[in-house]
Amino acid sequence: MKKLEQLYEGKAKKVFATDDPNVVIVDYKDDATAFNGEKKGTIVGKGVINNKMTNHLMGKLEAAGIPTHYIQQLSDRETAVKKVSIVPLEVIVRNISAGSFAKRYGVEEGIPFAEPTFELSYKNDGLGDPLLNDSHALALGLATKEEIALIRDYALRINALLKGFMKEIGIDLVDFKLEFGKTADGTIVLADEISPDTCRLWDEKTHEKLDKDRFRRDLGGAEEAYEEVMRRLMGEQ
Ligand code: TMP
Ligand code: ASP
Repeated sequence: MKKLEQLYEGKAKKVFATDDPNVVIVDYKDDATAFNGEKKGTIVGKGVINNKMTNHLMGKLEAAGIPTHYIQQLSDRETAVKKVSIVPLEVIVRNISAGSFAKRYGVEEGIPFAEPTFELSYKNDGLGDPLLNDSHALALGLATKEEIALIRDYALRINALLKGFMKEIGIDLVDFKLEFGKTADGTIVLADEISPDTCRLWDEKTHEKLDKDRFRRDLGGAEEAYEEVMRRLMGEQ
């Protein structure tokens, strides 16, 4: 497979065309941003970890029956994925209060929920990714009713699976963000990444944060936290 011109550069990844119109190559960067790009920095080695971790987890999700965009890892930072058009929704599932949920509803962080929550934001940096509900997403034509129902079903199944994978390595899955895409034939598949950039991961015993909150909140030790998650999940690389 040949890597051709760059199609897109996001905050954490670049996307390249290939000689196959249905395949693109994702290239993971070490760049870290927070607060809609206002805070910028670098987490050295993050791109390699996020690439390998995403592929590992998407492989496990595929094996459990969740369709994903994953095709094949090409190098430490590069992966071939199915070309999709991204559904402009950020899909967030939460198991424990934290982040914007705690802030918005005035509760402390760390309260476990009886049932996971499911929320949608409009993926639109210009507007700051505003929270919306199903009827808003329909009104804006972001997805159909059937697509939203399928995305919700996948997101909750993915939560149950990821929670289990993390528990095996002594980590509580607090919350995470997913993005879905549509392939040329209209199939909805899991896209983007699953990494410490997009999940809150707390050590189950010490409650130490092993995710991007170390960068967002200037806690230090972001590199070490990403490496720790990687080591627990995949062993020494
Ligand atoms: P939040 O509490 O800030 O809404 O974040 C919920 C989850 O979504 C958390 O695990 C981090 C992830 N997330 C992203 O992946 N990208 C984003 O732009 C934001 C705001 C959150
Ligand atoms: N994606 C967010 C940003 O723009 C960062 C975050 O994960 O909080 O900069």
